[in-house]
Amino acid sequence: MKHLLSTSDLSRADAIRILDTAEQMAATQEREIRKLPTLRGKTVVNLFFEDSTRTRISFEAAAKRLSADVINFSAKGSSVSKGESLKDTALTLQAMGADAVVIRHWASGAAQRLAESNWMHGSVLNAGDGTHQHPTQALLDAYTMRKHLIGGNDGPGSVFDTPTGNDLTGLTIGLVGDVLHSRVARSNVALLHTLGAKVVLISPPTLVPVGIGEWPVDVVHGLDAALDAFDLDAIMMLRVQRERMSGGGNSFFPSPQEYTRLFGLDGDRMRRLPDHAIVMHPGPMNRGLEITAEAADSPRSVIVEQVSNGVAVRMASLYLLLAGEEDSQ
Ligand code: NCD
Repeated sequence: MKHLLSTSDLSRADAIRILDTAEQMAATQEREIRKLPTLRGKTVVNLFFEDSTRTRISFEAAAKRLSADVINFSAKGSSVSKGESLKDTALTLQAMGADAVVIRHWASGAAQRLAESNWMHGSVLNAGDGTHQHPTQALLDAYTMRKHLIGGNDGPGSVFDTPTGNDLTGLTIGLVGDVLHSRVARSNVALLHTLGAKVVLISPPTLVPVGIGEWPVDVVHGLDAALDAFDLDAIMMLRVQRERMSGGGNSFFPSPQEYTRLFGLDGDRMRRLPDHAIVMHPGPMNRGLEITAEAADSPRSVIVEQVSNGVAVRMASLYLLLAGEEDSQ
């Protein structure tokens, strides 16, 4: 594997390999000295055309813990704000000897364009392109579900004692809210399907993408109805992406209060989930809109843990793309 662009490119074996490697990476992070020499001499560029806190910091931490040199490049304050194209930016990065580029871009398809170009020769990791894909987010979500719900490291809901090699067969996962604008939802649907989980999308009709009939999911237009119909093992609340809605959001639902009433996760709804179920959110959260503080901060919430698991999954992804091949020769 040279690039990581979309979860729909990953076979079951690829995905499990990344999750298993991430478990090994996480184990190294329990040690006193957390830095591994694996990517010494490699240069990883974080190329961010869109705002980000956790994803950029997470990739930076992951690359540094593997001893790579990291260059952070954000479009704000760079020549991109003077109109420089992706092509010219990529040529510059190539000239600087980038071995991998982690790219976040507002345009769907940007990561693929970069990977398919001959502007640069390194690996491309998609850190979010428009409303399209965000593969490392889905991988860290799957890692978190596997750890808590399937086994490995004795998560609270662990049923089996088999730390590696497993997929998510048997789980039912609910994704709630703004599916239309969510690359996290698209990445999760593809990966969860590959790993054998059942996916239920819980969303207002206005926030469901055209062509949803082709997706391997059930669709329910109300959170109460979904809680009645399914025993969800994990519920993933999606951020209402007001910056991607022209008209400020109210064109997609009557009012924020109405959205919360029908699709928000509060304490009462959370208590209707099975006892072992976990509450997830990719962040950043709109507290009070898609999730209340009671749900976000409850013992069932793994939202902060998702962030730590993100570092292990990104370490595994960088390792497999940049060192994996060499090691297996
Ligand atoms: C997500 C993203 O940027 O797609 N956030 C993240 O990577 N942690 C989800 C979001 O912005 O809602």
